[in-house]
Amino acid sequence: MIKIAPSILSCDFSKIGEEVERIDKCGADYIHIDVMDGHFVPNITFGAPVVKCFRKCTDKVFDCHLMISDPLKYAEDFAKAGADIINFHVESDSPVQETIDKILSLGCKAGLTVKPKTPIEEVYPYLDKLSMVLVMTVEPGFGGQKFMADMMEKVSKLRAKADEMGLDLEIQVDGGIGLETAPVAIKAGADVLVAGSAVFGAEDTAGMISALRG
Ligand code: DX5
Ligand code: ZN
Repeated sequence: MIKIAPSILSCDFSKIGEEVERIDKCGADYIHIDVMDGHFVPNITFGAPVVKCFRKCTDKVFDCHLMISDPLKYAEDFAKAGADIINFHVESDSPVQETIDKILSLGCKAGLTVKPKTPIEEVYPYLDKLSMVLVMTVEPGFGGQKFMADMMEKVSKLRAKADEMGLDLEIQVDGGIGLETAPVAIKAGADVLVAGSAVFGAEDTAGMISALRG
């Protein structure tokens, strides 16, 4: 079953609470929350206090994508704010294993994310503790960028590795997902699709979410 995780980065920030409620009602599986610190990526979004406010709007799974330099330092804040899955970058400054252990000790699921230039093999040593690996299909920082089809090789390799290890791993893709690219990612082995502009730019939000699922 393919899951759709709309990224609220592309929603109308003047009514963000209503937007979170709306995508919940329109059939989103996860709510993808892009946290950027202006240091790890050249953009700033929001922190844990804001995520805590979203928590009042829905019971849906919060998939927090931390594009921040020190996820170990802030993991607890996001867990307390209501995150269910905490994804952080293997390229961050925090020690990877320690950060995963911290996230798990907080009762959240751990996800590890790779930027386009990072080889997928970098996540292999941690796979048995992870619920999800997020393969970026754009350079992190902004919505509305073009899907990098050459990332699909990483997705297929990872799916084969997870199958070989007998793991029930979710593989998420993030960036440039729309009606044309979703089937490409699904074919490669992705089962959680983040979509920002495709979902929030659609007139029929529920129709788009269901169409992306294929
Ligand atoms: C980019 C973010 C993405 C982004 C996706 O750094 O991680 O989640 O919002 O937006 P679209 O779907 O518009 O590429
Ligand atoms: Zn994201």
